Amino acid sequence: MNIQPASRMNLVQEYYFSTKLKQIADMRAKGIDVLNLGIGSPDLPPSPETIEALAETAKNPKNHAYQSYVGVPAFREAFADWYQTYFNVTLNPVTEILPLLGSKEGIMHISMTYLEAGDEVLVPNPGYPTYRAASLLAGATVVEYELSEDRGWLPDLKELAKKDLSKVKLMWVNYPHMPTGAKANKAFFEELRDFAKNHNILIVNDNPYSFILNDNPMSILSVEGMKDVALELNSLSKSQNMAGWRVGMLAGKAEYVSNVLRFKSNMDSGMFLPLQLAAVKALQNPKSWYDELNAIYKVRQQTVFKLMDLLECEYDTAQTGMFVWAKIPEKYTSGYELSDLILEKSAVFITPGGIFGSAGDRYIRISLCAEVSLFENAIMRIKD
Ligand SMILES: Cc1ncc(COP(=O)(O)O)c(C=O)c1O
Repeated sequence: MNIQPASRMNLVQEYYFSTKLKQIADMRAKGIDVLNLGIGSPDLPPSPETIEALAETAKNPKNHAYQSYVGVPAFREAFADWYQTYFNVTLNPVTEILPLLGSKEGIMHISMTYLEAGDEVLVPNPGYPTYRAASLLAGATVVEYELSEDRGWLPDLKELAKKDLSKVKLMWVNYPHMPTGAKANKAFFEELRDFAKNHNILIVNDNPYSFILNDNPMSILSVEGMKDVALELNSLSKSQNMAGWRVGMLAGKAEYVSNVLRFKSNMDSGMFLPLQLAAVKALQNPKSWYDELNAIYKVRQQTVFKLMDLLECEYDTAQTGMFVWAKIPEKYTSGYELSDLILEKSAVFITPGGIFGSAGDRYIRISLCAEVSLFENAIMRIKD
């Protein structure tokens, strides 16, 4: 037998982390205690009300059946209320919200819905690698737009407009931005809206980090006229510590959302009802939930800043999100070199910025998803 995967599989590689995790597992098997400061999966639990709702509703024998593709009304209404309360965006819960099994699958669904061979897609460099992978798997051509520190990691839309954009159909943006922690602002979103209209490009903002170390959560849809040109993905993975639950959403104009639903309904069969009902509770967490979570992340961030100081890295103290992004000193050839060196000498894993694209080559990223003691331990090891 010689059964080869489809040629499209040549377009994507194994995720960097899965390869690195194997190396870390090998080191651990040899008795080396590796401290992993790499992976952005919240270590704190969801609110007690959320867990309670999951446990209680799972006891009902009637709650285990297939579910509607669009989720129960209470779930979509809870998403709509969340958007109204925290983003001042009014969404019709019947037509403008599509629950997702995490926002990551939404990236693929949107790509499969709107892209095909011959289309071009604007993808941020540095940026979340899934935008590129999903675009390629959908048969489209990736066109990177470079972000740089001196522009606050916002794209230069005037420069971009000088290029031939006639084949560009979709543009991924992700503010607050991962991995840099940069925020957008209203003026930028307005410029983006006009850019999208002028060039007939669908904008998708991937917005899972807006509640982490950010005093002013913002949705792209809060900007006037944006619904005509933009969709937004959101998620409970980071904001509610529910990464493993796989709960996210797509928000936007009914027509765009229903097109994505047409694709998605051929892929899966709706979300487990107790998850939906528990997510309703999570979405109703009071403002104090976010404040308490952020107080913890703040202390961690301060400790990671000390670790970055020790490595002589430079960083923006105003960055948002669940990571610290920092520029490496000149003496290293790249973030990969520094990361490998620290793994080898101190058994501490730090993510090299280059995995997010070439514009991240001179940076490293540390996740805040670990207790302060772990960062202190890493500091001691690196000092040694
Ligand atoms: C920028 C970005 N978008 C999307 C995701 C995926 O989030 P979810 O858990 O909602 O699928 C991540 C997760 O790391 C991310 O960093």
